[in-house]
Amino acid sequence: MPQKILLATRNAHKTLEVRAILGSGWNVVDLLGRPNLPEVDETGLTFADNAALKALAGSKNFPGGWVLADDSGLEVDALGGAPGVRSARYSGPGADDESNRQFLARELQRVVGPTYAQPQTARFRCAIAIAWDGEMAKQFDGTVEGTVVHPARGEGGFGYDPVFVPAGYRETFAELPAEVKNTLSHRGEAMRKAAEFLRKIAA
Ligand code: IMP
Repeated sequence: MPQKILLATRNAHKTLEVRAILGSGWNVVDLLGRPNLPEVDETGLTFADNAALKALAGSKNFPGGWVLADDSGLEVDALGGAPGVRSARYSGPGADDESNRQFLARELQRVVGPTYAQPQTARFRCAIAIAWDGEMAKQFDGTVEGTVVHPARGEGGFGYDPVFVPAGYRETFAELPAEVKNTLSHRGEAMRKAAEFLRKIAA
């Protein structure tokens, strides 16, 4: 009988990625099934701080169960590490994936100049926090190095996937199959560490 774990997110893409990585031993539910729970203000200065805020807030509403939260984002060297923890809301109020990608292109154009569309070194980072009964149990992280490219390419994934090429590949994350992205990605790396921890618990 799979154990239940609450993934403290309303991002269905993340839930799919986490389900694929954790496998059949875990019944992953997310906050889409709990519309009454308030959004958590991501006021932390680091991905780890924000993951902890989300895991602990979720855990208050999930007594006696495991809660996993992640916080992730893109760091572009030419932009001093931006968008960083502001990745999801980079273009301002009402931001969505498309507006964030357009804003990133404009920012690069402003800072780098006419060569902005050439590959710019960048990385995705992911921090994961696992909580139980309102207490932090464990934290993990993962990183994938690569470059930001323009114009955007590919239909898969979400967020900045169509403009991110992982190191050693020519395709963007949005062009690569989901299984390949999962083996390379920041979230994949952090989730495999988390899954190892959870497997020991379930055993
Ligand atoms: P979070 O939900 O607060 O972790 O926000 C993460 C934001 O960073 C997302 O909305 C995306 O814009 C970006 N991001 C994080 N992980 C990925 C990824 O795997 N692919 C593309 N964009 C990502």
